[in-house]
Amino acid sequence: MSANPLPFEQFALLDDAECDARIGAAKEKLGGRCVVLGHHYQRDEVFRHADFTGDSLKLSRLAAQSQAEYIVFCGVHFMAEVADILSRPNQIAILPDLAAGCSMADMANLINVERCWKELAQILDPETTITPLTYINSAADLKAFCGRHEGIVCTSSNAGKILEWSFARKEKVLFFPDQHLGRNTGYRMGIPLEEMVLWDFTQPLGGLTPQQIERAKIILWKGFCSVHQMFQPEHIDRFKEQYPETLVVSHPEACFEVCEKSDYIGSTESILKIVREGAPNTRWLVATELNLVNRLHEEVKHQGKNVHFMSPTLCMCSTMFRTDPQHLAWVLENLTAGHVVNRIKVPEEVAREAKLALDNMLIVV
Ligand code: 13P
Ligand code: SF4
Repeated sequence: MSANPLPFEQFALLDDAECDARIGAAKEKLGGRCVVLGHHYQRDEVFRHADFTGDSLKLSRLAAQSQAEYIVFCGVHFMAEVADILSRPNQIAILPDLAAGCSMADMANLINVERCWKELAQILDPETTITPLTYINSAADLKAFCGRHEGIVCTSSNAGKILEWSFARKEKVLFFPDQHLGRNTGYRMGIPLEEMVLWDFTQPLGGLTPQQIERAKIILWKGFCSVHQMFQPEHIDRFKEQYPETLVVSHPEACFEVCEKSDYIGSTESILKIVREGAPNTRWLVATELNLVNRLHEEVKHQGKNVHFMSPTLCMCSTMFRTDPQHLAWVLENLTAGHVVNRIKVPEEVAREAKLALDNMLIVV
């Protein structure tokens, strides 16, 4: 065993083919002690090394069930935090590149959310009337905020059920950080748009009047995903002028107008399922990240299916893209040498409270 961790500089200039071989060798050496989880947005060179792939819900369940000593999460920071919170104390969650964050998750922070809660208390009693609901794309301390206030976490695949859970308890929901997931899901449950108000965290009282807050069923945080905001309803119209038979499938982080024009809405895992189960010789326009769309097209093209990316400009999730084979090789070889690099460890008290909100979700779905 080497005395010190291997520095990243020894890996930074390796070509992908060499990384491939070294990742394979390190995984073989580690065997069942290590599990590599890969989100659907990971690039091919990393994705192919994942033992399990999935959307946020599936991967958090896998993290909770895993027996492995090391959980190497090829995804973004909040996902590795969830893996740490849900795994046992002797397990270690690792994020190959610590700079792999989520720009949407960063749009809400504890200071802004605590301030929002206090300001809402000028109008009503939030503790008895509002369930705080955070999308899993959020920092652990926001999940802990939800845990402290009888709240819950949702993902893009269970948001409807989680909203139902919340409304069975309290009359209103404060939904953060993604306004689109909240609005698209609420609307499909029959909540009119006027009863979903937008909380602009840069404005006093979120830029709302007391009457708007009193009437609202859902208070939506003004956050969004920079990748999914690229998809526009005109893209669907233009594409359908050429191919009118096209089926449209969108991630619920896309805006309301795009989801309204879509035949299907679903998480990354459901998008894959919908297209895989679609009839042969069909054409699909998909509003989600490029790596998933390209891979899906390659997978189903032999069935005569054509899968197209919705936006005319290419938009990848740049933070998901940060995890490259060089970082994966680096963390895995360090593990074979007995060194843990890039551990994600949520402080104990934050993890305890965040787990309350995550457990609420995992009991519901
Ligand atoms: P999924 O849970 O659908 O995989 O979504 C995660 C995400 O970050 C989408 O942008
Ligand atoms: Fe975050 Fe958007 Fe990237 Fe998903 S696609 S991880 S929401 S920035």
